[in-house]
Amino acid sequence: MKLFKILVLFITLQVSAQQGGMWIPSLLKGMNENDMQALGSKLTAKDIYDVNHSSLKDAIAHFNGGCTSEVISKQGLILTNHHCGYGQIQSHSSLEHDYLKEGFWAKSLADELPNEGLYVEFIVRIEDVTDRVLEGVTADMTEKEKQAKTDGNSNRIQAATKKEAWQDTKIKSFFKGNQYFLFVTERFTDVRLVGAPPTSIGKFGSDTDNWVWPRHTGDFSIFRIYADKNNRPAAYSKDNVPYKPKHFLPVSLDGISEGDFTLVFGFPGTTQEYLPAVAIKEITEELNPSNIAIREAALKVIDANMKASDEIRIQYASKQARIANAWKKWIGENLGIKKSNAIAKRQALEAEFTEAVKQKKLENQYGNLLSELEARYDEFGAIDVKRSNFVEIFVRTNELMQMMFRLSQMEAAAAKGEDTFNKARTAVQSRIKGTLKDFNTEVDRGIYEAIMPFYTTNIDPSIYDKTAFTNVDNAMKVLEGSSAEVIEKLHQDAAYAYAKPFIDDFYTNVEPEFQEKNTAINALETQYMKALMEVLPNERYYPDANSTLRVTYGQVRGYGPRDAVYYEPVTYLDGVMEKYVPGDYEFDVPQKLQELYAAKDYGRYADANGKLPVCFLGTNHTTGGNSGSPAIDAHGNLIGLNFDRVWEGTMSDMNYDPEICRNIMVDVRYVLFIIDKYAGAERLIKEMKLVHPKK
Ligand code: ARG
Ligand code: GLU
Repeated sequence: MKLFKILVLFITLQVSAQQGGMWIPSLLKGMNENDMQALGSKLTAKDIYDVNHSSLKDAIAHFNGGCTSEVISKQGLILTNHHCGYGQIQSHSSLEHDYLKEGFWAKSLADELPNEGLYVEFIVRIEDVTDRVLEGVTADMTEKEKQAKTDGNSNRIQAATKKEAWQDTKIKSFFKGNQYFLFVTERFTDVRLVGAPPTSIGKFGSDTDNWVWPRHTGDFSIFRIYADKNNRPAAYSKDNVPYKPKHFLPVSLDGISEGDFTLVFGFPGTTQEYLPAVAIKEITEELNPSNIAIREAALKVIDANMKASDEIRIQYASKQARIANAWKKWIGENLGIKKSNAIAKRQALEAEFTEAVKQKKLENQYGNLLSELEARYDEFGAIDVKRSNFVEIFVRTNELMQMMFRLSQMEAAAAKGEDTFNKARTAVQSRIKGTLKDFNTEVDRGIYEAIMPFYTTNIDPSIYDKTAFTNVDNAMKVLEGSSAEVIEKLHQDAAYAYAKPFIDDFYTNVEPEFQEKNTAINALETQYMKALMEVLPNERYYPDANSTLRVTYGQVRGYGPRDAVYYEPVTYLDGVMEKYVPGDYEFDVPQKLQELYAAKDYGRYADANGKLPVCFLGTNHTTGGNSGSPAIDAHGNLIGLNFDRVWEGTMSDMNYDPEICRNIMVDVRYVLFIIDKYAGAERLIKEMKLVHPKK
C-alpha cells in the first residue's frame, strides 16, 4: 500500500515535471507527443498540425493581432474573449443600443455587424528557415552587419516562397535569434460581430477579480468570418458569405474533471524564460517598481474621480481597466518571483552552466558570457527605467502628453513631404477625436500632476488652461492648413511647447542609449541561449513567446498558494451569486441570470453534480495573447476559452512553476448556457457540432 502511494506520488511528480512550455505546432512529433499522451491526450502530432490535411491548427486564428480566436462551425463562426471583442462591442454601442450593458445577439446573418479594421489571421504552414536566414552571417560581423544580412536573406526567402496570391508570409526569430521560422498566413478582414453577453456577465468581477482565482467571468464574445464567393479573404462587402473553414472545433458537452488533459492553442505574445538572474533582478527590482509607482499614482486620481462622478466613471472605465491590468500583473509578478525564489533558482542554473562549461572545456567560447551579461545589466537598469518611464507617461497614461507625442510624429512626417504629412494628419485627427470623446481636463491634469514628478521637476499644470488640445474644436483648428502653418501653430501651443523638448530629448538621447545597450545585451543573450542548449542539453527548451502560434498542454488542476489553503479547480454559478452586489459596477448580476439560477434551469449544460460550471483552472503555460485561446480536450473538442492566469502564477512569463502557475478558462458549457438559455440565440447553438466524447 505504502509502496503504491509512493509510486503514485512519483508518477504525479514525473507528470507535473513534463508541463510548461509553449511549443511550435509543427514540431510536436516525439517528445511533446509523448508528454501529451502521458497526460491523457489521444491526439497525435498530426491531428494538431498537418500541412497536407486539415488539422486543429486550421481552426485557430490570431484575433486582431493581440488575441486568439477559434472556429466553431462550418460557417466561420468564431469565439474569442469578451475583453478581446470589447472595442468592437463598444464601437457599435450608443445610448439607444448599449451593447456593453445589454449584450448583443444578431438574430440572423443579416444582423451581424461589420467591424472596420478588425482582422483574423490563420497559419497555412510553418517552415524552419534557420540555415537560409543565417547564411553568410559570421562571428566577426558587427550586430548591424548581422542584422542587415539576416534581413536581406529573409526578404529573399519570402520573395521565393510558394504561396497563393491572397496569402502572406513572415519570418520570425526564435530562441533569441538562433532559429528562424517562416509562416505562410491567410488574413480575413470581413469579420462581423455576432453575439456578446452583457458586461455584467462578460466582465463580471472586473478589476477586483482580474488576475485572481476563484473567478466567475463569462469572458466570451462571438464573431463570424466572411469570405468572397471563392471562400477567399476579401474586404467587407454585402455580397460576402460565411467562410467555410478547413477545420472547426466540435464542442464538448461532457465537461471536465480534475486531472483531465487540456491543450491550449493560440498566439502568446511575449515571455522571457531564459533571462540571466541579473536580468530578473533588474526587471523586478528596478523596472517593475517604477512602472507600478507611475500607474498607481495615475490610478489613484482616476479612481477617486470615477467614484465621484458617474459621467467620469463611464468615460474612464475602459482606460482604467487597461492601466490597471498591467499594473496589477506587475505586482503579482514581483510577488511570485520572490515567493518562488526565482532569482536564486536562476543563479543555481547558472552555477550548473558554469560547471558544465568547465567540464566540456568550452571556457574560451562561453566562459565570460555570464560575467559580461552581469556587467551590461549593471549599466542598463537606469536607461531601461528612464525609457520605460517616458513610454508610460508620454504614450500610455497621460492623454495630453500622448496627444503631444502623436503630434510630434506628425511634425516629423512633414519632413517627408506634404503627402506624408497629410496622411499623418488624418491619422492624428482621428486619434485626437477619439481621445477627446472620453476626456476630462481636470482628471487628466490630475494625472499629469501625479505622474510627471517621476520624470522631471519641470511641472506646469497651467498648460491645461492654455492648450487647444483639451477641446476637440480648438484642436482641429490648430490642425488646419499647410504643414508649415500647422507646425507654426503647434509651436505656439502651451502643451506642445512644454512636451516637445522632452520628446526631442527622448529621440536624441534616451532612445539611442537604450538601443545601443539593449543591442549589446541581445547579442550576448543570443550566444548565451545557444550555449545553454549546447552545454546543458537535457533541460526542456521551448522558445519564448513571440506572437506566433503555439501549443501548450497540461491538466485541469487546483493549487495550494500558501500554507493550509487549497483552491479547487472549478467554479459554479453559485459563486456568481455569492459575489452578487446589487447595482455594483463590478458584481451586479442580470435579472434573467438570477431567475435561471433560482429555477436551476441549466438544461443540458449542468455538471454531474447538478450545478452550472463557470470557470476552471489548468496547468497550461499561457501569457497575454492567449486570451480567447481554445482549451481543447484529449480528443480535439472545445472545452473552454482561456482568459487569464492566477495571481500567484503571473511570474510565469519569466519563471513557469507547474506547482503554482495556473491558467484560467471559462467553461464552454457556461458559454453555451448563456447563448442558449440566457440569450435564446438558438440559431448559434444549432450551427455548432455538440459532442459527447466521454459517453
Ligand atoms: N488579465 C486578463 C488579461 O491580461 C484580463 C484583462 C481584461 N480584464 C480586465 N478586468 N481588465 O488580459
Ligand atoms: N488576459 C490575457 C490576454 O488578454 C491572458 C491572460 C494572461 O496574460 O495569461 O491575453
